Amino acid sequence: MKPTNSPKTYRVKSFGCQMNVYDGERMAEMLGEQGIMPAPEGEDADLVVLNTCHIREKAAEKVYSDIGRLTKGKTQTKAPMIAVAGCVAQAEGEEIMRRSPAVSMVVGPQAYHRLPEMLEKAVKGERATDTDMPAIAKFAALPERRRTNPASFLTVQEGCDKFCTYCVVPYTRGAEISRPYADLVTEAKKLVDAGAKEITLLGQNVSAWSGEDGKGHQVGLAGLIRDLAKVDGLARIRYTTSHPADMDDDLIAAHGEIDKLMPFLHLPVQAGSDRVLKAMNRSHTAESYLKLLDRFRAARPDLALSGDFIVGFPGETDAEFEETLALVDEVKYAQAFSFKYSPRPGTPAATMDGQVSKDVMDERLRRLQDALNRDQLAFNEASVGRICEVLVERKGKHLGQWLGKSPWLQSVWFEGDAQIGDLVEIELVEAGPNSLAGTLRETALSAA
Ligand code: 5AD
Ligand code: SF4
Repeated sequence: MKPTNSPKTYRVKSFGCQMNVYDGERMAEMLGEQGIMPAPEGEDADLVVLNTCHIREKAAEKVYSDIGRLTKGKTQTKAPMIAVAGCVAQAEGEEIMRRSPAVSMVVGPQAYHRLPEMLEKAVKGERATDTDMPAIAKFAALPERRRTNPASFLTVQEGCDKFCTYCVVPYTRGAEISRPYADLVTEAKKLVDAGAKEITLLGQNVSAWSGEDGKGHQVGLAGLIRDLAKVDGLARIRYTTSHPADMDDDLIAAHGEIDKLMPFLHLPVQAGSDRVLKAMNRSHTAESYLKLLDRFRAARPDLALSGDFIVGFPGETDAEFEETLALVDEVKYAQAFSFKYSPRPGTPAATMDGQVSKDVMDERLRRLQDALNRDQLAFNEASVGRICEVLVERKGKHLGQWLGKSPWLQSVWFEGDAQIGDLVEIELVEAGPNSLAGTLRETALSAA
């Protein structure tokens, strides 16, 4: 490969989960430290980072078509420098390097702190792949956070040891690691100094976080949340994603005790049939999941619930799928994510008997989503008349309109005197399936 000019502008395109969004922001910060600027809207960037997701279908094909789009009809000097990051890079990095000469860098989710060195090589025309998994070292090597959104993410835990039989995460993100308590408290304070009012603690299995607090005591996620709640200027705390097996008494109690911990819980269940759950290696039953939710609701009666579902796991019968619908009817989720099962190479479920046909999966997904949409609208309608705080995150489509989130993670729009980062008191007046309209009562807390 010929040497390339040093890139002056970049664009990071993140796909998939919120952790990828977080990683994308951190990569952007690192490129900024190298003096590379974000490419202006609508203009080509000199360097494009494709921060990929491998959780479901066609992940790799999507990367190749993105690469094709970026390089189509362009000479080597005009085409952008391309880095492939994220979970597809981790799983299929070598193959990508072999198949796509246009790619200069392949960097896994645990190695992106080394992007500047890789970039130096790429500028000299040397292609570089780094899919090591040093985990904690990455966070220590990242630059300080100087700028952020009112609602920010903070990765506290990475990786997963659960090995659900359909899931690639334990292979692409590696074993569970918890970032040290002191680092997290420091980073949370930095985020608040940089303008964050809300922090969502992120982890593939965030409730498995553990660490030693400032007094040397071993604490779990609830202990961390309790201390973060003491950070001045931080108004809201959320966390995602959890596994039912790691929700301890302390975390349940925290929902009743800590005002800053928002009344929202994303707790994936995946399916309603115990046979399917066992085949998925989920280590919980439908009943144990429902009992767990009862305990959370007892601690925080206005808790809004969210979940993840997979339809058409290998061997799932019609009757077993009906059990998923029955569970949905019982829980009444405020929102949820639902997916057709997608065989992931290298996972045990990919080679299981009884792969379900596309038509059956389509039909099951449609029925499940009808039920989930019905419950989401019902939850939003039941919120009309509530007065709550909304964190203003951005401008709405029309002049004078603002968009923010309610404590229950609903999108709320309103008009009036506000600015991004304000926490305002809103009366919810009208409900739609995906958002609510509100009226501004007063500015409860204003941005610094
Ligand atoms: N097929 C379909 N959905 C999947 N998920 C994870 N792996 C797969 C797969 N192979 C879903 C699960 C998980 C969410 C992040 O993605 O519901 O909770
Ligand atoms: Fe994947 Fe979540 Fe299961 Fe871990 S707990 S293997 S991340 S689905």
